[in-house]
Amino acid sequence: MFVGEGPGADEDEQGLAFVGRAGQLLTKMIAAMGYTREQVFIGNIVKCRPPGNRVPTPEEMEGCIPYLKRQIAVIRPKLIVCLGATAARGLVNETLPIGKARGQWREFEGIPVMLTFHPAYLLRDPRRKVETWADLKTVLARLGKAPPAKA
Ligand code: URA
Repeated sequence: MFVGEGPGADEDEQGLAFVGRAGQLLTKMIAAMGYTREQVFIGNIVKCRPPGNRVPTPEEMEGCIPYLKRQIAVIRPKLIVCLGATAARGLVNETLPIGKARGQWREFEGIPVMLTFHPAYLLRDPRRKVETWADLKTVLARLGKAPPAKA
């Protein structure tokens, strides 16, 4: 399972998570791991975009967390990847900046949680893709899976 921050304009319009530009990059990241989007669940910390596309406030996050917790309880993912600082803060109360916390394991109700960068950040700074891929390979190793050979 992947957890992002919250829907953007494209997602609000379509009612689906990660369908805009960041979503297209996330799809590529998932494919590089050897999965399709149908094989994973993609959720968000908040369920609608805060006004002006700002980062959700702690109160807004708190308001939506019960919904996400319920999604996790129903899906029972083997593992969760938090995409970006808001996901890390919202799900596992991470206080370190994501640049420091990325690549580290946390736990949510017994489920291993990996912290990594948000794909929207990778669009702005593609150099961080190398670290993100290292984090995703750590995830695959924990799942006992090797990354597929490049086509
Ligand atoms: N960014 C997110 O964090 N979530 C989405 O669903 C889309 C963009």
